[in-house]
Amino acid sequence: MKKTILTGIRPTGNLHIGHYFGACKRWVEYQDEYDCYFEIADVQALTDNFDNPLKVRNNVFELVIDLLSIGIDPKKATIFLQSAVPEIAELTVYYSNLVTMSRLYRNPTVKTEIAQKKALFGNDGESVTYGFVGYPVSQAADITAFMGELIPVGEDQLPLIEQCREIVRKFNNIYGTTLKEPEAILGKNPRIKGLDGSLKMGKSLGNAIYLADSPSVIKEKVMGAITDPDKIRKDDKANPDKCMVYYYHQLFSGKDLNTINKECQEGLRGCVACKMQLVDNICNYLEPIRKRREYYLAHMDLVKEIIMEGNKKARLKAKDTLKKVKHAMKIDYFEQ
Ligand code: TRP
Repeated sequence: MKKTILTGIRPTGNLHIGHYFGACKRWVEYQDEYDCYFEIADVQALTDNFDNPLKVRNNVFELVIDLLSIGIDPKKATIFLQSAVPEIAELTVYYSNLVTMSRLYRNPTVKTEIAQKKALFGNDGESVTYGFVGYPVSQAADITAFMGELIPVGEDQLPLIEQCREIVRKFNNIYGTTLKEPEAILGKNPRIKGLDGSLKMGKSLGNAIYLADSPSVIKEKVMGAITDPDKIRKDDKANPDKCMVYYYHQLFSGKDLNTINKECQEGLRGCVACKMQLVDNICNYLEPIRKRREYYLAHMDLVKEIIMEGNKKARLKAKDTLKKVKHAMKIDYFEQ
């Protein structure tokens, strides 16, 4: 029996190379070895964007196309929408009795996000909603609905996985062993830095290269990337470790890396030429992804079919779990 992998992603923007190298590239590799469920977490995205539903809606198809373009194969893995599986919402209600408010407020991920909101809106947190504070419960439902065993996530998500494990243990203790305790799998790759050198690549930071970017956009972005500020002239010696262009060469320029490093340190390569080489390598790397993206964009009916098929498969599995949960909770009145 293959183990079950479940992970989710919020549809709030297109995939960038930070997502790709940090997480999604691994997902493609998992498809052959595991029974994989990839959830487009639109309901969770609404906890933050309930007043901007179009932002979520408009990103759902984009994100599915991104996933298909990087090589997620609907014949091997299940891509589905959270909102299309109402069993997840139902499980969330049942689990909500098993989590105290203070435990939710102490959840480090929730805590950090609330602090960010306070800083952003400058209030005392009155705008923090019930749905937002409770999203770890909903995420536990995402995971357990599919009996997810291995959960590939970034480090920031570990407290949510821990919270899910607690819910599972409590459920099993009270109602009898029904659910599986999931385990996080952390990626080996550190977070990919942004074009401006900041620690995080993100849409709101305007420092991302998207998988969907055209060669001309990639060129423009790379040309603006930060290089060693002490290198002024073409033949000045420089420190590649202070240069974002070299940082990305490490991701895209494999076999040429040693030469690039040496030439940079010895003052044998100008930054413009070095950037042009990076542009070429990124464009070549992303070309097959972009091609597939164009194909799917021209075949939206197929994309819709893939999602509907995924929803159906996901729902079947979630229904099975819900049946077991209701049985354990003694609310399966009409089942034998
Ligand atoms: N909270 C995750 C994020 O923001 C997305 C997510 C939703 C998720 N449901 C999940 C991750 C279930 C792992 C398992 O990145």
